[in-house]
Amino acid sequence: MKVAVSFIKSRVNEKETVDLINKTSADFLHVDIMDGKFVENITYDFEDIELFVKDNKKPLDIHLMCKEPQAYIEEYLKLKPYNITFHIEAVANPQKLIDYLHDNGIKCGIAINPETNVKSILPYLESIDTVLVMTVHPGKGGQKFMKEMVYKVDKLNKLKGNFVIEVDGGVNNESISYLQNADIVVSGSYVCTSDNFEEKVRNLKE
Ligand code: DX5
Ligand code: ZN
Repeated sequence: MKVAVSFIKSRVNEKETVDLINKTSADFLHVDIMDGKFVENITYDFEDIELFVKDNKKPLDIHLMCKEPQAYIEEYLKLKPYNITFHIEAVANPQKLIDYLHDNGIKCGIAINPETNVKSILPYLESIDTVLVMTVHPGKGGQKFMKEMVYKVDKLNKLKGNFVIEVDGGVNNESISYLQNADIVVSGSYVCTSDNFEEKVRNLKE
């Protein structure tokens, strides 16, 4: 199991959190961007993120919880991320963004909210690299895992395509037991509010 760690909810500030994540065996740094429109909260400006990831060595997994994310994508491409994920609910023309990311050599993910069915992304499954299944309502860290979303992971595993399945929200040492069919899990508060990040990352990987 690969693990991406989100730094939005932590016991220390963002820069220190990113440094601590870098000392673990985590596979990705998950960057949550909220625009105050697609979700109520606003997280960071691009300049904030640039500062936080200045010394980061982990591949960046960027999660845009933003309405019409084209402008955000253009900006975040500058960080040379591993992938950028946008929400299917937030865009009018997903294929345009998929092609734009691929033309720029970046992998593309599509995220689906709890109320969104897998059906809505069927037309894109053969051209994307990641499906991000939300197991909380996007908008903040530290929420309870929605077990009733696990069926989407099983459903996606049966479908054709070259995508990996990533799960985001409320992942901890208990909910991980439902996620053995996922390829990547995102974890925020479980890892970053603890005093031993590596121990928590290992608990998820085992
Ligand atoms: C939710 C974010 C998640 C989340 C992860 O809006 O996309 O990445 O903050 O944090 P935990 O693991 O605390 O749910
Ligand atoms: Zn996220």
